[in-house]
Amino acid sequence: MPSDLPQPPTSQLLTPLAIEIAGLSHWYGEGKMRRQVLEGVDLSIASGEVVLLTGPSGCGKTTLLTLVGALRQVQAGQVKVFGQELAGSSRAERQQLRRSIGMIFQGHNLLRCLSAEQNVQMGADLLDGLSYRARRDQAREWLRAVGLGDQLHKLPHDLSGGQKQRVAIARALATKPRLLLADEPTAALDSRTGRDVVVLLHGLAKEQGCGVLMVTHDPRILDLADRVLRMEDGRVVDSAAADSLAPGQLAAG
Ligand SMILES: Nc1ncnc2c1ncn2[C@@H]1O[C@H](COP(=O)(O)OP(=O)(O)O)[C@@H](O)[C@H]1O
Ligand SMILES: [Mg+2]
Repeated sequence: MPSDLPQPPTSQLLTPLAIEIAGLSHWYGEGKMRRQVLEGVDLSIASGEVVLLTGPSGCGKTTLLTLVGALRQVQAGQVKVFGQELAGSSRAERQQLRRSIGMIFQGHNLLRCLSAEQNVQMGADLLDGLSYRARRDQAREWLRAVGLGDQLHKLPHDLSGGQKQRVAIARALATKPRLLLADEPTAALDSRTGRDVVVLLHGLAKEQGCGVLMVTHDPRILDLADRVLRMEDGRVVDSAAADSLAPGQLAAG
């Protein structure tokens, strides 16, 4: 069945693939508790392509993202990121690869004792050859881009859930990622801010050739995607060009 699914347009296949997944399966637990959560996922994402991933809670979306993000060891199947195989990779190789991947996960993971600006600057710290001042200026620029230019010195504790989410987004963007993985990045944002943030991610994809894989249930950002994938019970069951879908079709199952 996967071979029948729409593939990236040929023009995008000429650009390097950001993600190439074949026969990816994953299990949690041991012995009797062992449960399969991914079942033979096949999926490719070109550089510069924006792909939305939808599907009911528990179908394996976050697991898939953490495997692609080299946060988890591949158990079965293949996952290539920028052509590098993650199955059987060493911890050092995964660590190196993670430097090219921007991740926006639920829960923000901001450092509580650092200000918004310092948290974002930590992302920029991964860029070699930049002075302290350049990294700080970049952090400020990204915070302005997500609408937090007036909150630079606040601690996470003094920011709302949506503001914290935007700091996490700015931090991911500050790493100048070649691939961006985002797990419901707009869930805590009002519709206007949510859309602004996705417009920003979309611009990054198109201008810098960054691949974007984003879990979302937000029908308002459908038009910003190149493709929409739907997962159910650990499989990708549907893939459609985003412009062929009506907004209602993106709703959570
Ligand atoms: N660390 C874990 N240990 C055991 N089971 C897990 C773990 N993480 C997720 N699961 C289970 O795996 C399934 C898929 O989870 P997840 O990938 O988080 O799905 P989604 O993001 O689509 O909601 C769910 O049944 C969940 O309860
Ligand atoms: Mg999830």
